[in-house]
Amino acid sequence: MNIPNAEWVNPLISALEAVQLAVLRLLSWVGLSGTSEGQAAWPWPLRLTGENLLIDLGQARRLAWTLALLALAVVVLLLALFWRRRRWWLMGTVPLLLLLAPWPDASVLMAPAQPTSFHRSPTGFSAGSIAQGRALYAQHCVACHGADGRGGTLASAQPVWPPNLAGPLLWKRADGDVLWRILHGTHDRRGRATMPAFADSLDAQDVWALIDFMKANAAGQSLRATGAWAQPIALPDMTVRCGDHAPRALSAWRGQRMRIVLADASTAPPLEDPRLVSIIIRTSARATTTPSADCEVDNADAREALALIAGAGTDALPGLQLIADRDGWLRARNAPDQSAWSEDDLVCRTDLAPQATRGVPASDGLGALIARIDAEPVRSVKGGFIH
Ligand code: HEC
Repeated sequence: MNIPNAEWVNPLISALEAVQLAVLRLLSWVGLSGTSEGQAAWPWPLRLTGENLLIDLGQARRLAWTLALLALAVVVLLLALFWRRRRWWLMGTVPLLLLLAPWPDASVLMAPAQPTSFHRSPTGFSAGSIAQGRALYAQHCVACHGADGRGGTLASAQPVWPPNLAGPLLWKRADGDVLWRILHGTHDRRGRATMPAFADSLDAQDVWALIDFMKANAAGQSLRATGAWAQPIALPDMTVRCGDHAPRALSAWRGQRMRIVLADASTAPPLEDPRLVSIIIRTSARATTTPSADCEVDNADAREALALIAGAGTDALPGLQLIADRDGWLRARNAPDQSAWSEDDLVCRTDLAPQATRGVPASDGLGALIARIDAEPVRSVKGGFIH
């Protein structure tokens, strides 16, 4: 997550992304940008990135000063337009302002770009898409990358060892850049192919599904290895039935905290709680007497996606509970044999040391957990931008 302490850098970096997206939208609106894989294509081989500014506050400061001086130069030019008597005098200060500006290094601000760099995934991170990605990964990728993403049987035969897909890599990259590399392959500095291209056998929709699967898999691997989700992971979307209403997407509940309970017939019903929407996912299709909750899901893809993210492979894990925050990020996990919640169950966080409960009575572990979830919202850095 690596968010810098200097709060003023965040809006600066967000602005870098917003400006580029606006330019792209404008180009596509006037018909100047082509399309690539169904979305407007970025026309240049470079783009601005905030990634280095997060590390190099000095450069970020230079960029901020430069932008401020550029804005001032624009104001001075406007003034010169209307103030005839001082026009030449005012115009003379503009080059001075440009000279005074502490321009940041271009190499710090620029990153290589692909036509798909700014593409957004159309899948909505759904359980169905993760299941599709899982099947494609087993078919096309597992030999080189391995089931756990750390390298498969053919890894050592590659020109370079494939990167660890169970680490933060997929969060560092823009999704659109990953899409491009999988479709068109990768090359080393000398132009030799390192990973083969898959554009002949996979389309963009397949690759978006693969990206969803690889993220879910990496989250599960991280939880297994370190006991935490080191990178933020969203609650996969799925179809839920709530009371007598027609089935609908879980994402329609965004804005509410959600508790997911994987349950078989022997699981005790979760106590109703006004602070959360409870969703039961049946772990065995035949169980007819599963406990009741606000909403129910009876779908193998949903079961498997959650087991994957919880680091349990395809095991059903009856009794496992997960909590998602109001923004849809998964935040806490409760093991099947654990009876009550506590702050230690917060597994999506950057500091791994358990914190002392701040004056909250121990009897309300769930309350303490929710207070911390609300107090520490997830902010993720993705492709050099903060979301
Ligand atoms: C023949 C072996 C091989 C196969 C098959 C393969 N990869 Fe790779 N992959 C590599 C190698 C080698 C690299 C490292 C490339 C580099 O760093 O230049 C890599 C890199 C990657 C990366 C990181 C790209 C980045 O941005 O740095 C991703 C993501 C990835 N592969 C996904 C996949 C997916 C998904 C599939 C299946 C559709 C797949 N790979 C199939 C060998 C393979």
